[in-house]
Amino acid sequence: MSALDGKVVMVTGAASGIGLATAQLFADEGARVAMFDRNADLVNETAQQIGPNAMAISGDVTNEDDVAAAVESCVERFGRLDASFNNAGIAGGAPLHEQELVAFQRVIDVCLTGVFLCLKHQSKQLIAQGEGGSLINTASINATQATKGLSAYCSAKAGVAMLTKVSALELGEYGIRVNAIGPGHTKTPLTERARDLPGFDEAMINATPLGRLGEPDDIAQMALFLASDTSPWVSGQLFYVDGGITVNELPPGFDPFAQGLIRQQRG
Ligand code: NAI
Repeated sequence: MSALDGKVVMVTGAASGIGLATAQLFADEGARVAMFDRNADLVNETAQQIGPNAMAISGDVTNEDDVAAAVESCVERFGRLDASFNNAGIAGGAPLHEQELVAFQRVIDVCLTGVFLCLKHQSKQLIAQGEGGSLINTASINATQATKGLSAYCSAKAGVAMLTKVSALELGEYGIRVNAIGPGHTKTPLTERARDLPGFDEAMINATPLGRLGEPDDIAQMALFLASDTSPWVSGQLFYVDGGITVNELPPGFDPFAQGLIRQQRG
């Protein structure tokens, strides 16, 4: 018997990085997985690679019609919904005095409003089914750790942590658990530019008690625990999966904008 036998799970941002690793692990553990991503070609390709227990849905988490339709298609194809991993996200920023409104809003829209829309439509489905469920959101170590130049991203991730708590409070009476995962620096396309910078990996690794960067599967394993029935009394929490970096201080000179690691995000 595998951890997710018989369960149906929706994963957003499923075409790449942490979302893809999680969709793969969930399918390996017996789940049927609805993979939602705005990159239509990539999500089709990756869902096909995972096999018949995966379906691809293209759409944008900031568009309420897309999110509602994704939950509907998942239920149409697999008959129900048991859990979700609301993980789609983008990074990007600028110093506060140069931060463009449109770029600030885009990060908030994808990273925070997108999670809200998913929680709204998924919880509606779970409440209608009447059998509880598990909703998991991707926050970040930036939910509580500030990084220069990342005003929108850090604020959005702090928002995800609080949205997780409010949702857990509201949905507990329906047997629905809601938790968040806060990844540390993980090797995915999102962090490629930072990792290309000479000395960056080394500085991160030195600041991390476990002495390495994260792999997407490190995060996926926590999502598996939270999605499965092995965590029946766990709700409203933010779990850091970060090699221990949040117990350490980031180097005071750490300034990704000055180092050319981030740029404004418009879409
Ligand atoms: P990634 O860039 O490899 O994957 C993100 C996926 O989300 C992509 O497939 C992209 O097409 C999709 N996506 C982006 N905007 C979307 C939208 N509006 N609608 C639907 N899909 C959309 O990034 P990664 O690293 O796997 O990130 C996943 C999550 O983990 C994000 O929420 C990110 O903020 C968070 N995170 C990542 C960390 C890291 O070090 N990689 C650290 C902390 C948090």
